[in-house]
Amino acid sequence: MITEYFHDTAEEIALAARLLQKGELVAFPTETVYGLGADARREDSVRAVFAAKGRPADNPLIVHIAEIGQIYDIAAEVPEIALRLASVFWPGPLTMVLPKQDCIPEVTSGGLETVGIRMPSHPVARALIRASGCPIAAPSANRSGKPSPTTARHVMDDMNGRIAAILDGGQCSVGVESTVICFDDSDTIHILRPGLISQEDLAPYASRVYVDHAIYEQIAPDVKVASPGMKYKHYAPNAKILPVDAPDFAAFANYVSKHAVYGTYCLLFDGDPEIPGIPSMRYGDSGAEQAHNLFLRFRELDEAGAKLVYVRMPRQDGADLSVYNRLMRAAGFEAVTL
Ligand code: TXA
Ligand code: MG
Repeated sequence: MITEYFHDTAEEIALAARLLQKGELVAFPTETVYGLGADARREDSVRAVFAAKGRPADNPLIVHIAEIGQIYDIAAEVPEIALRLASVFWPGPLTMVLPKQDCIPEVTSGGLETVGIRMPSHPVARALIRASGCPIAAPSANRSGKPSPTTARHVMDDMNGRIAAILDGGQCSVGVESTVICFDDSDTIHILRPGLISQEDLAPYASRVYVDHAIYEQIAPDVKVASPGMKYKHYAPNAKILPVDAPDFAAFANYVSKHAVYGTYCLLFDGDPEIPGIPSMRYGDSGAEQAHNLFLRFRELDEAGAKLVYVRMPRQDGADLSVYNRLMRAAGFEAVTL
């Protein structure tokens, strides 16, 4: 298959929309990461998404909509708290898991009776959803297990020849995937995956907001998890990633200097000095900067031939928790504490 490359003009978005209507797969930009889109209602198309990614069939896809009202086409029940959150955080990087309508086949929902729904804010994503008239099921457009793509070139690297088209909308601004939540009851928000929209951001809208323990630790393969994506190793570059929790830069630099081997790199904060003799990259100082850069740096480290990467440990509060979670998952939850 030849993968077509489209620019984000109205004409080319219309061509991409036509491919979706025909049941083809189209990768497209969102504000978080690039998605690999298919008509969420078509079993054959959704099966092709799983095949193109090499994704386990029990890991459900998120359905993307362009207007808040479309939530009623996808969800069988919409509690008041979901509407409240939609009015505040949509369009944006928040995915809500709700009971699904029959038009969403079980292939899309990974066999579950629920479905994740999100209204992205990226204008190209919304134009594509509108032009196609389809609710678009889209996982991140990487091969399963690879870092999520934040540029069209990353998608091309992973998916060229496997999908009908890639729509280029530039580099994604957020850089990590959406916050995924479900509701334990009418007033409790359960965070299944942290993102730019944090526990602190959600707190004013429910009496309780809590983060699933799987965000902080490795889950044994036989344990039942609240969100299937938690089970799978994720986001990993080829290089071994080793986060180092150090009291300060001097302690980090000292540890790395003593333990460096052939192919060792460092992933540092922007404000850090160089460590003599050890090549480094930087991923920002704030949580938002680190989220924007993390997956990009993972891919650059692989291109540079890094074998072992010592990473300055991000914080764990606010949006920074999303960076911490992606990093710890890439590291298989192994880290060094000094
Ligand atoms: O930002 C994003 O969410 C991106 C862009 C493309 O929108 N999409 C994305 O999709 O990250 P994906 O498939 O890579 O991750 C979806 C996550 C998985 O961890 C999956 O297990 C969880 O959402 N999920 C989806 N539907 C669910 C459901 N019904 N119940 C529990 N978890 C669900
Ligand atoms: Mg993904």
